[in-house]
This record gives sequence, C-alpha cells and structure tokens, in this order.
Amino acid sequence: ALPRDLEGRHVVVSAGGTREPLDPVRYLGNRSSGRQGYAIARVAAQRGARVTLVAGHTAELADPAAVHVVHAPTAREMQVAMHEAATDADAVVMAAAVADFRPVDLAENKIKKGGGEVPPLRLAENPDILAGLVRERPAGQVVVGFAAETGDETGGPLHHGREKLRRKGSDLLVVNAVGDGKAFEVSDNAGWLLGADGGEQEIPNGSKALLASRLWDAVRARL
Ligand code: C5P
Repeated sequence: ALPRDLEGRHVVVSAGGTREPLDPVRYLGNRSSGRQGYAIARVAAQRGARVTLVAGHTAELADPAAVHVVHAPTAREMQVAMHEAATDADAVVMAAAVADFRPVDLAENKIKKGGGEVPPLRLAENPDILAGLVRERPAGQVVVGFAAETGDETGGPLHHGREKLRRKGSDLLVVNAVGDGKAFEVSDNAGWLLGADGGEQEIPNGSKALLASRLWDAVRARL
C-alpha cells in the first residue's frame, strides 16, 4: 500500500498535449498521450491528496478515480485553468506538452485548397505557463516542471535539464530522454529528477507510476 503522506494537501497536475486550432477542423498539436501526467495525478490521489488534473488532449484516458478533471484544449485555456487551480495548491506539476506556438488567425471556415495559392501559416508564441506559475506562486508552494530532451544534443539531456531548471525557476525538473521511441506514446519512462538545491536522482526505466512515486517523494520532502 502507498503511504498517505499527501493527506490534507491540494496538488495540481497538467497532462496531455495542447491543440492550437487553425480552422474548425484542423489544429497544431503534438504526440503527448497524457499517460505520465495521469499517473502523477492518480498516485497523488492514492497518497491522500486532493487532486486537480488539468487535461489537454490525451489518448482517450479515463478520468483517474477521485480526481477533479478540468479540460483545457489550448495553451491559453490551460494557462487560465492552471492559475485558477494553483491559488491554494501546495504543489503544482506541469507535465503537459504545451504547444510553444499557435496560429495567429483562426479561420472561421475550413481552409480550402485551389487557386494555386498556398495559405501562409503565421504563428504567435504561446505563454510559458510554467514560468508564469513560478512568478505568481504563493509562499511555500512547490513547483515541478518537465523537460523532454533528445540524447544527441551537445552536453546531453542532463546539461540541458540543469539549464532549463535555472531558466524556468521551478523547484524540481523531471528530465525525460525522448526520441527513438522513448517516453512519448509508450507505457514506460525513465530520466532524472533535478532539484534547484542541486539534488540529482536517476529514475531507472520503469512504469510511469514508478516515476510518479519518485516525483511525489521529492515533492513531499520539500513541503
Ligand atoms: O521549454 P520547454 O517546453 O522544454 O519546457 C517544458 C516545461 O515547460 C514543461 O513542464 C511544460 O509543461 C512547460 N511549458 C509551459 N508552457 C509552455 C511550454 C512549456 O508551461 N508554453
């Protein structure tokens, strides 16, 4: 049985990918399934927390038991939902894959081909939700971010993770190795858990529930 060490706590978790509409039938999106974020929410509830799960698009995942689910399809809707839920939260985990850009224009009708012209795709930058949550957090709130890094970048995923942790200002950052069929759309996950205090823990390949347990251990130690 899991420890009930999050009893009396409110935790907020985002999960899944955002979809940024182009017209009534098309969007820009990503391959996030939401499985890791859902596992984080589920484990927190099993450990006694009151959980708000802010869900983007997922692989048709069922709502976890005893979790309050708020749906937020786009980055801007997710930003509003996260700030609202985070006001009284003890911990906030941004596991969602937020689109960095959205189409500037949302066409009222389906964009048509023909006439020899290819329509331009103009993009605007989405808000960095995690950075905003860090800026506005109440005293004592623990904030956790994620970083999906491919291993072939110079310096490797850990180096990029450290730099991202500093830039975002969160207390913890989960670094996932992605690419080569890792992390996205699969049931296993592995990586590192970096702390703003310099702490560094490797998370061996295992279930997404295992990673969730390690994450809540680290959050618990900082509450
Ligand atoms: O900068 P990058 O997208 O790699 O950072 C990933 C982390 O930032 C994740 O925790 C993700 O949920 C969060 N993020 C966000 N808003 C964005 C982009 C990423 O909150 N627009």
